[in-house]
Amino acid sequence: MENKIKRIGVLTSGGDSPGMNAAVRAVVRTAIAHGVQCIGIRRGWQGLINSDFVQLDAASVGHIISRGGTMLYTARSKEFMTEEGRLKAVSTCKMLGLDGIVAIGGDGTFRGALQLSRLGIPVVGIPATIDNDIGCTNYTIGFDTACNTAIDCIDKLRDTMQSHERCSVVEVMGRNAGFLALYVGIAVGATAVLVPERDLDFQKDVVERIRNARLAGSTHFMIVVAEGAGSAVEIGKKIHEAIGIEPRVTVLGHIQRGGAPNARDRETATRMGYFAVKALVEGRGNSIIGTHEGEMVEIPIEDALEMKRHLQMDRYEVLETVSITAPHPQPSPEGN
Ligand code: F6P
Repeated sequence: MENKIKRIGVLTSGGDSPGMNAAVRAVVRTAIAHGVQCIGIRRGWQGLINSDFVQLDAASVGHIISRGGTMLYTARSKEFMTEEGRLKAVSTCKMLGLDGIVAIGGDGTFRGALQLSRLGIPVVGIPATIDNDIGCTNYTIGFDTACNTAIDCIDKLRDTMQSHERCSVVEVMGRNAGFLALYVGIAVGATAVLVPERDLDFQKDVVERIRNARLAGSTHFMIVVAEGAGSAVEIGKKIHEAIGIEPRVTVLGHIQRGGAPNARDRETATRMGYFAVKALVEGRGNSIIGTHEGEMVEIPIEDALEMKRHLQMDRYEVLETVSITAPHPQPSPEGN
């Protein structure tokens, strides 16, 4: 197919995630391979309003595949949420001669992409957030690295909790979603995991699980809380009031968003960047690149924004079965 696209913009928006740089690199290099110029828009949608840009060539994205954060900076733009702000962004696109935009980010980024595409600028989105909560894709760039960072921290906490026979309450990110908390909770063998998607029965979900773990012989306990499920400090206080132990509270916070992207995030980001540019070059746009069963898929933005990703509640059963929180029945002498 003849390529009518001459120049595209690439931006990162919303909370950063490990692998965003790898996606930027893939976008730039794929564009160049198709004879398309690439302009980096800095500070997300706000950069499009302020005409805050940088010329990108193949060399300018060298050695960023292994770096966390985003070389293009990121922001959450309030101005872009207004009609006036979006019209300024369209003017910038016209001034720079941008035939399309690749927008790397989460849900908020894609809502912005939809608005811009309605004003005639083709946009292709690449899902990147450590929350892994985008409905149209099985996977978002940064999730795996963030999980591994959290696991690494919690493993270290466990060492000292085990030595001191303490309870640890760890808050992980996830304002609206518990994917990270549940995944990490299973991987560290947590005593309990609290997520925003599940109503909390404090007695049953926390107190009884700690008590049962104690009855089963455990002397240290690990409670993982997604930030959207409540404050770890408050959970710690409630545990103290209920059963007298004095939990130590750790809020992992933004440490989970940093660090070098791991293999999965680099590889996924690179493939997504490649497919996003291909979509623009082939005359499509107004879509999101996602993964489904390991393959790349392209979904119209309107449909993508309607899709919901539900927490896999069956994973709770796995967690609750495998964590020692009740004495496992001993086989009777008769072998029953
Ligand atoms: O969107 C990803 C996320 O990490 C959420 O889990 C978290 O609540 C939020 O970003 C915090 O972002 P910031 O502190 O940058 O506003």
